[in-house]
Amino acid sequence: MNKVVILAGGQGKRMKADMPKPLFKVLGEPMLEWVISACEESGLSDICVVKGFMGDMIDEYLGGRYQTVLQAERLGTGHAVMQAVPFLENDTDGHTLVLCGDAPFIDPTAVSEALVIHKQQNNAVTVITAELDNPFGYGRIIRSATGISGIVEQKDASDEQKAIREVNSGAYWFKTADLIDLLGKLQCNNAQKEYYLTDTVSIAIAEGKNAGAYKSENPDIIKGANDRKDLLELNTYARMAVINKHLENGVEFTCLDGVTIERSVEIGVGSEILAGTILRNGTVIGKGSKIGPNCIIDNCKIGDEVTLNNVQAYDSSIDAGVKIGPWVHIRPGSHIKSGVKIGDFVEIKNSTIGEQTAVAHLTYVGDSDVGRKVNFGCGTVTVNYDGIVKSRCTIGDNCFIGCNTNLVAPVKLGKAVYTAAGTTITKDVPDYALAIDRGVLKINEGYSLRKLKSKLDK
Ligand code: UD1
Ligand code: CA
Repeated sequence: MNKVVILAGGQGKRMKADMPKPLFKVLGEPMLEWVISACEESGLSDICVVKGFMGDMIDEYLGGRYQTVLQAERLGTGHAVMQAVPFLENDTDGHTLVLCGDAPFIDPTAVSEALVIHKQQNNAVTVITAELDNPFGYGRIIRSATGISGIVEQKDASDEQKAIREVNSGAYWFKTADLIDLLGKLQCNNAQKEYYLTDTVSIAIAEGKNAGAYKSENPDIIKGANDRKDLLELNTYARMAVINKHLENGVEFTCLDGVTIERSVEIGVGSEILAGTILRNGTVIGKGSKIGPNCIIDNCKIGDEVTLNNVQAYDSSIDAGVKIGPWVHIRPGSHIKSGVKIGDFVEIKNSTIGEQTAVAHLTYVGDSDVGRKVNFGCGTVTVNYDGIVKSRCTIGDNCFIGCNTNLVAPVKLGKAVYTAAGTTITKDVPDYALAIDRGVLKINEGYSLRKLKSKLDK
């Protein structure tokens, strides 16, 4: 079976952070995740990640999804792959893809097409290359009549070699058995005193084996990040690639300021995304919806013809025709059913809101099951937490909740219950009843005249 070794041992000193470089995020996902997903899309699942600097964080991130091996000392890319030899030795019949964990845009097409050439040419190693306008810093590809004869690193290159624009992407296919053999022959007699994986090319050729190169049409597969500026560039590049895909699918954007859409997001045709909108984590939006300005929508399912204006919503479903905003927080576990209207300064948490219910302003609904066509007066609060446990409120269809009602959970309102303004509900109310909780209103006439006396304007 074909295998993958992903090199993720680098520290990325210039990032200035206590974190392995491959865990820095591009569009909300670690670079390592982009690389892994390119493998998965190419049908490769036998993956070993070589960790080094703060390697525990890599294990923690992967959560056992793939195996890892530790490179305790950082002695070069060849040395990094050597650590994976026990993984390679499990099955030496197939081919092994080596990738860099900090080059997120490796392309599944390049991976599969390179493998085809690798097999056709019967190569021990096939390097994935690309041509760059500015090849500085990369290993240069030395071509020969039959294929390639070697890779020369920037620090070891002559002036003539430095002029070569075809560079090593850092991704390669090897015959697994040849890779194990070639790793054993690497030496570190170069400018950086490292075991260069790139030397496998010249060693293979010296042994009479074939080495080749697959040149990708897409130079972006090489893009990596050495510092925060590079990381911002990768984010900008990925962000525009995603937005362009949605533009092609018929999504409307009139201003991209502050718009960030992760690649896992789906948006239906005719929807409009306004400025300041961040869509994350597999959010799905239906057709003809209008999202923004200034929304964060994280792991939500949004129906057709929904309007969200200045809304933050997390781990929730919002059905067709709902209008929410401005300034609303939908917290995890909520289901807002079709035709609901939610207005300014409302928070909904872990609650179901039935069809066509209105929660117009200044209201908190937490841990509640609300029926259809309920009207919430301004300032309603579900009192769902007593300091120890959280309890639920149930509100029947067609209830009319007066302004400033407190519902002390657990409590249940039947169908079409009225609550009078300012009422605190502490026990269940049956269908069709009015609940009213008021002291006797006293009016003390002339009170302020007596109290303030000379302070009052005459
Ligand atoms: C390497 C290639 C170069 C290529 C470039 C593409 C070598 C000698 N050179 O250069 O030809 O153009 O990648 O980006 O291979 N890593 C480890 N352990 C180590 C060293 C590196 O895990 O001891 C990992 C890094 O985390 C990174 C990858 O290997 O993911 C590449 O390492 P890096 O130092 O960036 O290689 P370059 O010198 O840039
Ligand atoms: Ca590099």
